[in-house]
Amino acid sequence: MKKPLIMSLAYIFLTYFILYTYFVGFNNTVIFLPQPRFTSDSRLEEVIALIHTRPKLHNYTPATMTLYDLSQILWAAQGITDPVLMFRASPSAGALYPIEIFIFIDEGAIQGLDAGIYHFDPKTHSIKLVRLGNFISKLELSVYDFRNCRVVLTINAVYERTARKYGLRATRYVHLEVGHIAQNVHLQALNLNLTPIFTLTFNKSLVKELTGLGEPLMAITFLKREFEPCAIFPSYVEVNEMSVEEVIVRRRSVRKYSEGNVTLNQLLQLLWASTHVNIGVQLASSINSSCDVSSIIYVAVGNIIGLNQGVYRYDPKTSELLLISREDVRGSLYEACYAVGEYTSEWVKEGNACIIVAAQIFGNKDLLFISMVESGAVAQNIHLQAVALKLGSVTVGGFDDEGIAKAVGLPAGYMPLHVIPIGPKPEIGG
Ligand SMILES: Cc1cc2nc3c(=O)[nH]c(=O)nc-3n(C[C@H](O)[C@H](O)[C@H](O)COP(=O)(O)O)c2cc1C
Repeated sequence: MKKPLIMSLAYIFLTYFILYTYFVGFNNTVIFLPQPRFTSDSRLEEVIALIHTRPKLHNYTPATMTLYDLSQILWAAQGITDPVLMFRASPSAGALYPIEIFIFIDEGAIQGLDAGIYHFDPKTHSIKLVRLGNFISKLELSVYDFRNCRVVLTINAVYERTARKYGLRATRYVHLEVGHIAQNVHLQALNLNLTPIFTLTFNKSLVKELTGLGEPLMAITFLKREFEPCAIFPSYVEVNEMSVEEVIVRRRSVRKYSEGNVTLNQLLQLLWASTHVNIGVQLASSINSSCDVSSIIYVAVGNIIGLNQGVYRYDPKTSELLLISREDVRGSLYEACYAVGEYTSEWVKEGNACIIVAAQIFGNKDLLFISMVESGAVAQNIHLQAVALKLGSVTVGGFDDEGIAKAVGLPAGYMPLHVIPIGPKPEIGG
């Protein structure tokens, strides 16, 4: 009687052990990353302006990276920047943080790290070895910039964390969040003399199997930054004193604004950071390295010094604001925003202006997801620029699409993805 029981237990144990080592791996190695720097000599606007240094395809050298570079990039992506509330460097709908980051490292790519797949833990700022080995050549990364690259980050999403609260809207929010993260990675990498290359096309089922957590959505690798800075700032852009790291660490969603003014130049600078074309390249990350971002920008102006109230469309090539209507539509935008419990989004009507990031509705799901990621990148630049200008801003994603589209008069075939009120940041709170 006893023998079969022991045999079954041994069998169960062996099966569990094999499955565990396959999916989780043997190794419990945890590497605590070097402390990231929260400042540097490079001011935000100087780094934003570097985005034009994106190399053309064919013309690249894979980067060599240090453990410090990796630490800094992971911090900019998902590091804890509010140790009390445990909020992170990039915003997240409902602070639910559905994103998990994995790092694929091939032999010898980062001194001191074995080849393998690692998982980033923002809370302890450490990476944990998931499995040993060289895997990058198997990832089938779409663009050929990736040949010879030996460090790749994958951004995986655990949709359920967001879907539990936001239902079907989770897919949109998660893709927007990937864009916010990608833009922080872009700026931080440039400031380390690296150029990130993003792709949404790779062997996702293999990455899912190897990482074992979430749906892989984006892969990022790093090239050597080839070009020297050559920033051309329009006259209205002020290079402020805050470094890119300082801005990332200070960014918070701000939902209360003080009585102060917002000027036309400040608004133009926010729009410059959003999508301005600088030396032929738009400033926000385009996921297609060869073309512009798909986002278009509208502004609902209420109280901006030097600009009449109304709705404007921003032209990223000329920096012009094209008047669409003379109406102050902030109240209509507010009406179109969802109320969550006792929360209504007053901040949408109380900001001095509201920036709307919209994208074309493509029949193709993959193209729509690219637009969402790009909209997140655009919005992140607006948030960071707002910090440097001592303004407050918040991404509002909960709204009736048609109501927002109607309020600002979006062209047919476009959907709003971000509604971003802006106003002077109060000294305390917000
Ligand atoms: C995709 C997305 C949608 C969001 N939607 C809203 C919203 O509808 N209303 C709001 O007040 N905040 C919204 N937020 C802001 C989050 O609540 C905020 O990022 C989170 O609480 C973390 O705080 P932090 O941004 O200060 O780090 C959204 C953020 C993201 C990324």
